[in-house]
Amino acid sequence: MKYQEIINKGSKILKLNNVKSYNLDSEILLSSLLNIDRSRLMTNLQDKIKDQDKKIFFNLINRRKNNEPISYITGHKEFWNYNFKVDKNVLIPRPDTETIVEQVLNYLNPLCTKKVLDIGTGSGCIIISIVKERKKCNGVGIDISKNAIKLAKYNAKIQHIKNRIKFFHSDIDNFFLYKYDLIVSNPPYIKLHEINGLDKDIKNYEPRIALNGGIDGYSKIRLTIRKSSALIKKKGKLFLEIGSNQLMKTLEILKSNGFYTNIVVKDLANKNRCIVSTKI
Ligand SMILES: C[S@@+](CC[C@H](N)C(=O)[O-])C[C@H]1O[C@@H](n2cnc3c(N)ncnc32)[C@H](O)[C@@H]1O
Repeated sequence: MKYQEIINKGSKILKLNNVKSYNLDSEILLSSLLNIDRSRLMTNLQDKIKDQDKKIFFNLINRRKNNEPISYITGHKEFWNYNFKVDKNVLIPRPDTETIVEQVLNYLNPLCTKKVLDIGTGSGCIIISIVKERKKCNGVGIDISKNAIKLAKYNAKIQHIKNRIKFFHSDIDNFFLYKYDLIVSNPPYIKLHEINGLDKDIKNYEPRIALNGGIDGYSKIRLTIRKSSALIKKKGKLFLEIGSNQLMKTLEILKSNGFYTNIVVKDLANKNRCIVSTKI
């Protein structure tokens, strides 16, 4: 069977099972299996697939058919300029979260030597991207999930910066190490009762601990801001991701914890996504 034919078969199965991006997903799964990029696959559609690969391909299609996110199946996700290993223990890095990285890089000049803390680091995507781009900065990433920390360490290693980031397995509530020039965080901020209404890809596969913001959606935002207030240096900056409808209340929480809001940044969909504030 030729690549084109097997892509069509995979795509048909996904379409019948209501996977929206059926064609693209079928192509991505085949290129991942063949270990070639999609553009190369597209120029070799008349090549024949090996019999043993055929079976593996339909296994991958089957996983996608059951709504497993494509990034968990391929085991990686592009974020900022880098490729991150991901698995079911971490949230899949979102393009919206690149807003934090962009704001931090606008703020930090290329030669500065700052110490940056990432609260709820997950795959490590935020802190690793920042430390890669600012060669003289050092980072600390913490997460309540032991497996997330393992993965973040692996990602720092493959990006050759493991000596510039320390990772700690810890609940932020029990973390007291050092003082930071900058804190970044994308805390869990979905209301508990809204999790079941999310897409199956998310609610059935992504870690609850990475999504669950408690009854009102603010429990981890409050905790992150309260702890940041203690861990940040005076005049240090906090870069916080929020849900698009969480702006006003988060601004109040920031104010009551001694932060002055500098700017609110919208994401690619023009929704309020990132608050930059200063500890006064
Ligand atoms: C929304 S995910 C963000 C992951 C990653 N920073 C990103 O942007 O893709 C939130 C992360 O916070 C972690 N987390 C949840 N509660 C925490 C706590 N009390 N202390 C430390 N980390 C926590 C979760 O394990 C998860 O990895």
